[in-house]
Amino acid sequence: MSWKGESMVRHFLSLMDISPEELKKIICEAEKFKKSRVRSSILNGRVLAALFLKPSTRTRVSFEVAVRQLGGDFIFLRGDELQTARGEPLKDTARVLGRYVDGIIARVYSHRDLETLAEYSGVPVINALSDMEHPCQALADMLTVKEKLGRLNGITLAFVGDGNNVCNSLILACTMLGVNIRVATPEGYEPAEEIVKAALAMAPPETEIQILNSPEKAVEGADVVYTDVFVSMGDEAEANERLSVFLPRFQVNRELLNLAKPSAILMHCLPAHRGEEITEDTLEGEHSVVWDQAENRLHAQKALLNFLYSRQDSSFK
Ligand code: CP
Ligand code: NVA
Repeated sequence: MSWKGESMVRHFLSLMDISPEELKKIICEAEKFKKSRVRSSILNGRVLAALFLKPSTRTRVSFEVAVRQLGGDFIFLRGDELQTARGEPLKDTARVLGRYVDGIIARVYSHRDLETLAEYSGVPVINALSDMEHPCQALADMLTVKEKLGRLNGITLAFVGDGNNVCNSLILACTMLGVNIRVATPEGYEPAEEIVKAALAMAPPETEIQILNSPEKAVEGADVVYTDVFVSMGDEAEANERLSVFLPRFQVNRELLNLAKPSAILMHCLPAHRGEEITEDTLEGEHSVVWDQAENRLHAQKALLNFLYSRQDSSFK
């Protein structure tokens, strides 16, 4: 969090930038946005820039639609078309962008780059995925679980696969909302230690966080089974090694899914690599909620933008 003049600038680089109460509020708002298709004018007269250094379908399009539906304008910036590609330091780019736009939605390789944008731009910065977290995904994920299972508190979510950005944000979101989380990864691919530590420090007494190396133990009796790619953007050089470590044991297939509750839902942030972390029949099967989950990116991000910008002084910028 930082201050610009009299205005408080809220960033969303991590789930840890908001309180559990604020997270609950954003999810409730997202439900309202989804139900009533409200077209708020919170971003009227504001321009947001989306700076994407990696590919994206869902995040890019859902943010552009969200910004437009809230009355704002949206400029998409590809990293390879900016002077950063020719060596201009990101802190210089941040200071310049901050003088033109009212917010930066950024997808980066290194989480440190988000911190630089936040430190130097003076406008709200939203993490659209970094190597450490994917917090906007977790907002939509929690909205989806609540929508499908009717509640969050006390349910059990099993994440099977790589302890990556999506997994890190899920651990934080689950903990903040009283969802028990069990993570199963191969040894050496566990979620970030600092994230697990932070989650353990804030977990309500009755909420469990288990970091395991057994997919079967994680999934047994779970309400939600979640997976993501074994090779994230930026990990391509290790692709062969990773696939040999993760397969076949960490694949979400019918046999593994059968260990969860019969009513369990299957989630994936997408894009999915069929035949790697998930099988075609489970992704397309009766437990899968992935298309609703993808849709919920839009509603959750509208609620997030509404939350961040309703706290800004109207004379801001
Ligand atoms: N889930 C997600 O972030 O998808 P994109 O990479 O398509 O944005
Ligand atoms: N973990 C994946 C998520 C893609 C939305 C990646 O970082 O590539």
